[in-house]
Amino acid sequence: MGGPVTVDLTVGTPWYGPPRAFRDAMRELVAPGDDLRRHDVYAPPRGADELRTAIAGLYLAEHELALDADRQILVTHGATGAMWTAVLAGSGAGQEILLPDPCYTLYEPIVTVLGRRPLRVPGDPAAGWLLDPADVARAITADTAMLLLNSPVNPTGSMYGPARLRALAEVTAAAGALLVHDEVLDCFARERPHVPAIALADQGVLVVNSLSKRLGVTGWRLGWLAGDARAVSAAARVHPLTTIAVDHAAQLAGAAALTDPGHPAMIRERAAAIAGVGREFLRALSRLPGWPDDLDLPAGGVYAFPDVTGLFPGVTGLFPGVTGLFPGVTGLGMGLPPGPVDVAVARALRERCGVGVLHGSLYGSGGEGHIRISLAAPPDQLREAIRRLEKPW
Ligand SMILES: Cc1ncc(COP(=O)(O)O)c(C=O)c1O
Repeated sequence: MGGPVTVDLTVGTPWYGPPRAFRDAMRELVAPGDDLRRHDVYAPPRGADELRTAIAGLYLAEHELALDADRQILVTHGATGAMWTAVLAGSGAGQEILLPDPCYTLYEPIVTVLGRRPLRVPGDPAAGWLLDPADVARAITADTAMLLLNSPVNPTGSMYGPARLRALAEVTAAAGALLVHDEVLDCFARERPHVPAIALADQGVLVVNSLSKRLGVTGWRLGWLAGDARAVSAAARVHPLTTIAVDHAAQLAGAAALTDPGHPAMIRERAAAIAGVGREFLRALSRLPGWPDDLDLPAGGVYAFPDVTGLFPGVTGLFPGVTGLFPGVTGLGMGLPPGPVDVAVARALRERCGVGVLHGSLYGSGGEGHIRISLAAPPDQLREAIRRLEKPW
């Protein structure tokens, strides 16, 4: 099957969209009679008081962590804005930023565009690709400014536990470097409770987070940087130079949604819905020829990262001159260009089944042989993907 991708399992934008509290607040904020002028002018550069206070309330409620809303929180354009600001303020030109391999696709380009040097630290596949603090300690040099990681992890679905996270914070602190923990997938913690790194150390640690996945509002660009007061203050000096401030009305709607009494229950219900559909999808995938037969929900996050080398028995890495004879997978491998298996599988899924996924090597060489599938895609799309993959392709 050729043509465009019609089942898109590439994007992690949750299907559920903004909760009622967000939509109602936004409607009221721009309704006739509201003082629109206060949204028409620049918001405070550190973020609207309402949103910073709501974010502080979130950490108190979810992690019993008391943050000073004035000194320890900076509102940014999504987690992406927080990452840019953290790297810009937390490192100097030419300094090294340590990144896990595999890791989220934006980290390395952001570091490179800002004139810093990305240095990948391989995660151990047997340990869910989590970083070993000893490997990080060995990778650190006098030029290392920061370790940037995420948990729950995009793309692998692994989660850092508090002991490993604390050990990483100790390693970076000993080197005078920052640990930046991107926790945008914090609502999707399943194997263990999510612990933000800022709950484990007062200094030298920041979190990057946003309402994108939590509320299903990727388009409203609401994020933040929080933690070490000195690092936040440095970030707050740089942030206005990039975008001045985040849209005021969006911030107030975000604050309304976070402080809505129904927020905790809504988060639990939505995460459970994604987990339910994701589990059903992965079990169905496990039953298909060539796929791992033990696929289940990963520890956290909204992505599955299955090993797809079984779809090409006997072919591990590059496969020049592939013959195309693979049991159970009709025609797969025929005429495929040389390249990693995961690239070929993602392409075959797109071209033959109209199912879009991302190849694992996009996330670093450690992701080779895997593909990333978004479990946050609409449930009917996940079911349709199974229907297509059940047929010979
Ligand atoms: C790990 C991770 N960090 C950051 C982002 C970007 O988040 P935002 O929309 O808040 O910029 C994403 C988006 O998928 C993500 O998966």
